[in-house]
Amino acid sequence: MTDLYDERPTGPQHVLRLREVGVEYRTPAGSVTAVSGVTLDVPARGITVLAGPSGSGKSTLLRVLSLVERPTTGGVELRGAGTARLSSRARRALRREEVALVFQNPADNLIGHLTVGDNLRAAAQAAGRTTAVDELPAQLGLPGTSAWKVSALSGGQQQRLSFGCALARGASVVLADEPTSQLDAASADLVLETLADLSARGVPVVVASHDPRLIALADTRFDLRNGVLAA
Ligand SMILES: Nc1ncnc2c1ncn2[C@@H]1O[C@H](COP(=O)(O)OP(=O)(O)OP(=O)(O)O)[C@@H](O)[C@H]1O
Ligand SMILES: [Mg+2]
Repeated sequence: MTDLYDERPTGPQHVLRLREVGVEYRTPAGSVTAVSGVTLDVPARGITVLAGPSGSGKSTLLRVLSLVERPTTGGVELRGAGTARLSSRARRALRREEVALVFQNPADNLIGHLTVGDNLRAAAQAAGRTTAVDELPAQLGLPGTSAWKVSALSGGQQQRLSFGCALARGASVVLADEPTSQLDAASADLVLETLADLSARGVPVVVASHDPRLIALADTRFDLRNGVLAA
């Protein structure tokens, strides 16, 4: 893949840290506690998996880790800096520059009417970078596809490109919610390879999943049960 990350200075030991994080939602039926009292450190290297049954709080925690959602209580640190006091605007800017979030459905991560190359360029631009993206398709296992429309790629290839867009953005952490759940086994394999590849290049990856094959790749694993970390 790319050398984009080779020159990054050695950062702190943890890319993200949560302290006593709780998330509550108000619903017409009353307040729902999605996550409570979660304290965890995400290493700056390797694949970290948030595992747990449906409804255990994986997606909620992933949204908090990716700065999409503010927790109701507790704190989130990104590369050693607290985020609680940031204005909404500063928080959005930090997210745009540092965090790449890959959604479950490949189509939600890509601009369908653009080509592969234009998607990569648009991703870099959105993060305010001028990353050279010409080599990326080949490095992603998609050689010769730069001028292809995204719709000509398989689901697994599209998801691979989604992670490529995260690389093009130069994000310092890549997070993904169930990135293999809408793919057949062969397509999911492509995504697993890409995750391993990102991690081998020093990009920390955080994935919410109950896919046993993805969980098997984890260097670090956190198990959630009913919104709390299982011992
Ligand atoms: N916006 C919301 N409003 C109300 N309740 C919510 C909201 N989002 C999540 N919840 C509740 O919070 C809990 C955790 O949900 P979450 O989506 O984080 O679980 P999950 O582990 O990702 O589940 P799945 O594996 O099904 O994706 C669930 O009880 C859910 O119903
Ligand atoms: Mg979920």
